[in-house]
Amino acid sequence: MSETDALPRWQVDFDRWPYPAVCAHRGAGTLAPENTLAAFRVGASHGQSMFEFDVKLSADGKPFLLHDATLDRTTSGRGAAGGATLAELAQLDAGSWHSAPWAGEPVPAFANVVAWLRANGHLANVEIKPSPGREAETGALVAIAAAHAWRDAAVPPLLSSFSEAALAAARRTVPTLPYALLVDTLPEDWLERVRAHGCVALDANHRVLTEAVVSRAHAERLRVLCYTVNDPARAATLRGWGVDCVITDAVDTIRP
Ligand code: G3P
Ligand code: MG
Repeated sequence: MSETDALPRWQVDFDRWPYPAVCAHRGAGTLAPENTLAAFRVGASHGQSMFEFDVKLSADGKPFLLHDATLDRTTSGRGAAGGATLAELAQLDAGSWHSAPWAGEPVPAFANVVAWLRANGHLANVEIKPSPGREAETGALVAIAAAHAWRDAAVPPLLSSFSEAALAAARRTVPTLPYALLVDTLPEDWLERVRAHGCVALDANHRVLTEAVVSRAHAERLRVLCYTVNDPARAATLRGWGVDCVITDAVDTIRP
């Protein structure tokens, strides 16, 4: 039996869309150190129920949370993020860069974050954020890890990526998870790309969205998410256009 044989057949599509209208970006945006468990706790304390976070692979092929390709900005480590093993990453301080109260906050393993999310009944948007050159490997391993971690959950995580190579590998490996294509600009062939990857949603920079794009996506039975929306008035406008979920740093003012 292969690693994916016994996985559930989750059904997430336009008509069966289980996610809330707001998703907390990197845990708590900028209120706490991004992509740490501390951030998720802060986000949850403001009523957030779905969390976006960035996942890449350690040198020993284990998924962990970090946004950048290097350790430098958000940890006490230096160099390529994918160059450290999970055990080495666990020794790093991912909180001091933000502010003193968070000193010592660890770089979380994906498995620890999933355990917390599931124990608290929260939903997830897992952004597959591969280290350069590891796109397909990251897509495949994150999809497998996610599918196993949520295997007995009614609602699976939504997986997204800017990397089409990562998305393709993820979907090849676990076709039954829901996927969204992330775009920072809107290519003319956005619909074809979303379709080609079997995605259930477009996840776009809110600055490139228009009401017409949202309507077109909906007409094609696709949901629309957008990032990173930090102005409540802008969030209301996007909601008025029918956007299904805004991903926000403003976890204290833009709530589900
Ligand atoms: O997943 C949405 C958003 O997080 C994409 O941009 O750079 O914040 O990961 P970034
Ligand atoms: Mg992200």
